[in-house]
Amino acid sequence: MSFLHNKNIVLGITGGIAAYKSLSLVRRLKDQGANVRVVMTDAAQEFIRPLSFQALSGNAVHLSLLDAEAEAAMGHIELARWADLIVIAPATANSMARLANGQADDLLTTLCLASKAPLAIAPAMNQAMWSNSVTQQNRQTLVDRGAVILGPASGEQACGDVGEGRMLEADEIVEQIEPLFNLQALSGVRVLVTAGPTREAIDPVRYISNHSSGKMGYAIAQAALEAGASVELVSGPCALVANDRISRTDVESAKEMQQVVLQHIEQVDIFIAVAAVADYRPKQVSGQKIKKQADKMNIELIKNPDILASVAGLQHRPFCVGFAAETEKLEQHARLKLEAKQLDMIVANRVDQSDGGFNSDYNSATVIWAGGQHVFEKTSKSRLATDLVRLIAEHYTI
Ligand code: C5P
Repeated sequence: MSFLHNKNIVLGITGGIAAYKSLSLVRRLKDQGANVRVVMTDAAQEFIRPLSFQALSGNAVHLSLLDAEAEAAMGHIELARWADLIVIAPATANSMARLANGQADDLLTTLCLASKAPLAIAPAMNQAMWSNSVTQQNRQTLVDRGAVILGPASGEQACGDVGEGRMLEADEIVEQIEPLFNLQALSGVRVLVTAGPTREAIDPVRYISNHSSGKMGYAIAQAALEAGASVELVSGPCALVANDRISRTDVESAKEMQQVVLQHIEQVDIFIAVAAVADYRPKQVSGQKIKKQADKMNIELIKNPDILASVAGLQHRPFCVGFAAETEKLEQHARLKLEAKQLDMIVANRVDQSDGGFNSDYNSATVIWAGGQHVFEKTSKSRLATDLVRLIAEHYTI
């Protein structure tokens, strides 16, 4: 599976003849499983109709900062948060100059300024414009700020000149951006992730569970894989598909989850417990479906084992990261759990947000460890997972 699978890519098209190549770029990105949203500048629309990009990307094309209707559907700040990566292809000399200057006078430049996502730029321009020292200075400024420059290639140009300035082909762009998601910060490290809810049986057809979708845990497992780790995923019931390079074991109950985790734990360097494990389970599990009888019914619950605490309490324990889903006093509760469970780090997130927490594609988080803390603002779960794994990797190696 490609590292671009499930990644959110904003593709910015600026006004160059190479814009026609970006039609194939959208197709190649979609082939890799990426979600693509196209943003076009006014000049780009002189070369290609937005409808072509809409048809290929499967999403409405974003054209203007001042379009109230488009902003209501997905505003520029939301789009900036949605992006795991912004690719500008083709990038004209003018657009590079405007980006280098930090301008925000149209949708694309505003988006670049508002987004924390990495930026990849595929220049496309006449060879003299490319080699001009001003363009080279702008290129350097963008590189110094962390942008990745893709190409340009050399060869015959649309204007008849021959030289450097041709936009890379779609396949070459895909080849160069895929490794951006493969940062290798955990190269050779073995990571075990728990994800999803657990189900605690009442009888053969009923159970107690919670609203966890598994999205955050699967995103963490994917981000760890992309960082070079070998990843074991122990998953409660959920409808998600894991990357085929992740070794996954499906479980139902907390007890099963604990059993599988403990089977693997000796071979693990980092344990990240993202699962929303049910704290209690019915004391008795009926062998047959319980029949409707009295007006009232009591189910006696007993405490489940705390998987994370049991791992953190081992003599030879891995680096332990917990997740704390809270509805109030986020930091205070998380700090108590960090200490009580003797964790190396805890990721606290609110699960009462209108757009974030359980089931949402977005999340924010406060990460706390003995010597400090870090707040991650609301962003896509896959972006947040990449940032969290990077932070975990930094602390694991300290
Ligand atoms: O105590 P609380 O359930 O809020 O702690 C959350 C953290 O502990 C999560 O990382 C979760 O995966 C883990 N946990 C566990 N086993 C339990 C309960 C929670 O591993 N029975």
